[in-house]
Amino acid sequence: MSELLDLIRSRKSVRKYSDKHIPDEDLKKILEAGRLAPSWMNVQCWKFIVVKSQEKKDLLSELSIGQPQVKNADAVIVCVADSDSWEEAKITHIQKPALNPALQCENGILIRSLEQVIYPVSYMMLEAESLGISSCIIGAFGSEITGILPEVYARVKKELNLKDSQIISTIITLGYEETPSAVEKKRKAFNEVIYFEKI
Ligand SMILES: Cc1cc2nc3c(=O)[nH]c(=O)nc-3n(C[C@H](O)[C@H](O)[C@H](O)COP(=O)(O)O)c2cc1C
Repeated sequence: MSELLDLIRSRKSVRKYSDKHIPDEDLKKILEAGRLAPSWMNVQCWKFIVVKSQEKKDLLSELSIGQPQVKNADAVIVCVADSDSWEEAKITHIQKPALNPALQCENGILIRSLEQVIYPVSYMMLEAESLGISSCIIGAFGSEITGILPEVYARVKKELNLKDSQIISTIITLGYEETPSAVEKKRKAFNEVIYFEKI
């Protein structure tokens, strides 16, 4: 098995962290992995906000319907999809629908913006895992997408200085696992999800 596949197998969502702090250089490596991710016509329609202050982590936990790992994580990365990036990269000037998400469907830019951020999120989680740092993706929180907790979301947007075009797509919690345990991978069987040539 490849080293990367070993890493993918060993990664798991961790929701309880010890008090140990993540060294800045490791946090930087995690962020660098995200920065280097691929995107549609290299639009890089993302911003990553590192949050370490307890006050902001508490607010983000509130936004995440009180999920404790958000406030107990050593660091949190708020991953933002920025729909203005397409205009800035002049992709919205392109007249071919195949290349310009703005011409594809009603919410093409929004859908594609959210889609792009999945790649850096995956890269950052795997880089963290390679450094012995555990993570958990948080998707259950108030935003323009979920429509829940609009007042808390408005406070978060203000605190993080986010523009209207900047939507929180994912929150990643990071820290060292409190009680290291074996990975329990519950996944559908290979032949339930993998097909060759056709389903
Ligand atoms: C888009 C997305 C959103 C998720 N949101 C949450 C969440 O809000 N809270 C949580 O505890 N886990 C969340 N997870 C983690 C999943 O529950 C977890 O990845 C899944 O159960 C598989 O377990 P594993 O990551 O340990 O392999 C999310 C995962 C993804 C990919």
